[in-house]
Amino acid sequence: RDPSSAFSFLVRNRKLYLATLASVLGPMSFGFVLGYSSPAIPELTKIEDSRLRLDDNQASWFGSIVTVGAALGGLIGGWMVEKIGRKVSLMLCALPFVSGFTIIIAAQNVWMFYVGRILTGLASGITSLVVPVYISEMAHEKVRGTLGSCVQLMVVIGIMGAYLGGLFMDWRWLAICCSIPPTLLMVFMSFMPETPRFLLSQGKRREAVESLRFLRGPDAPVEWECARIEEACDEQGSKFQLSDLKDPGVYKPLVIGIMLMIFQQMSGINAIMFYAENIFEQAHFKQSDLASVIVGLIQVVFTGVAALIMDKAGRKVLLIISGVAMAISTTAFGVYFYLMSLLPEPHGDLAWMALASIAVFITGFALGWGPIPWLVMSEIFPVKVRGVASAVCVLTNWSIAFVVTKNFQDMMNLLTSAGTFWLFASMCILNVIFTMVFVPETKGKTLEQIEATFRGMSGP
Ligand code: BGC
Repeated sequence: RDPSSAFSFLVRNRKLYLATLASVLGPMSFGFVLGYSSPAIPELTKIEDSRLRLDDNQASWFGSIVTVGAALGGLIGGWMVEKIGRKVSLMLCALPFVSGFTIIIAAQNVWMFYVGRILTGLASGITSLVVPVYISEMAHEKVRGTLGSCVQLMVVIGIMGAYLGGLFMDWRWLAICCSIPPTLLMVFMSFMPETPRFLLSQGKRREAVESLRFLRGPDAPVEWECARIEEACDEQGSKFQLSDLKDPGVYKPLVIGIMLMIFQQMSGINAIMFYAENIFEQAHFKQSDLASVIVGLIQVVFTGVAALIMDKAGRKVLLIISGVAMAISTTAFGVYFYLMSLLPEPHGDLAWMALASIAVFITGFALGWGPIPWLVMSEIFPVKVRGVASAVCVLTNWSIAFVVTKNFQDMMNLLTSAGTFWLFASMCILNVIFTMVFVPETKGKTLEQIEATFRGMSGP
């Protein structure tokens, strides 16, 4: 067999795929957390038990408080990955996931719901930091984009799983099912290795070589790869200090990472997903809960497409296509709302305009701005600041997610619906310009080469 063929590459790296598969149970669990509120809220606002019944305000907190937990989780996660490593941090995430859902199942009042949602949010925040780092540090650069995109793929599969489950199950059974992926995560991860880069940063060379051998197969030149990673670690010194912020190898990727997160959330994705059911209702769809499933399905299909082409097309092209698609669709959405405000009564044809806008928007997001900010975050930081810098990115992402979801309704009142969507559109135009000017292409480069590019050197 030709050792350089795609097939033999796949076979040699099968344990790498196994480790990726185990770790992405984390993002799947966080998808379930994000998706859970959509079917649960309509039930909990009508529930007979008055101690558990949510009013409108409580329902909006039930939905959005997860993002507050997740922002906190980002901070804790940044500390954990450095102190106890990528693998153990990930295994420990299962605890707040499962205990959060248990508190929701056993809830005696609305406050217990909030505590459960914060805990599951906390676990989601830690996972959204640890898993991209875990995967990018293990992966071979030829497939790092595809494997890294599996993070978002599993998030959207989880979201759709919760929507689908909600069609057949009540909120308690659904919460029980949501506890299954994190439990499996803990079990499967216990059989997987720590990443070679973390082990080397801890001075554990023998373990790092073993980990590489597990990931790359018995015949791979692991000694050579190990030496290459060590070289990059040595060059940097081992601990993060504030003065590192003066280093272009640190501040440049940090600014890019933060901006990617801001732009991802300012596209309005969470507001639009949240609003999808209303739009479908206006378009006279009988079952608006099915609408969520359709949105979920579009996300899964196109995030899958993005994962497959990520290492061929590259990150930049996909971000640009994605940004343009979202800018056009949010503009059209704004026009839809504007026309609606002029008409005395809703017009059927216009509803289709709204549906088409949603479909194009979700497709666009899934192809680029969904998976890529998480992927690029895991690729661009030097190993010694990876924990701290990723924490800042995760904190930014979830804080803005909170601001957008909690204030969406107020924004619609203040700026009108058309104005709000045109604001999202202008943010999408800005994200396209930002990508063209500032985002580096990381396709096919090793993490060490990416680092060297920021420092203005050609890589090792
Ligand atoms: C975002 C989430 C969003 C999800 C939807 C993620 O990449 O960070 O805020 O809800 O995608 O698919």
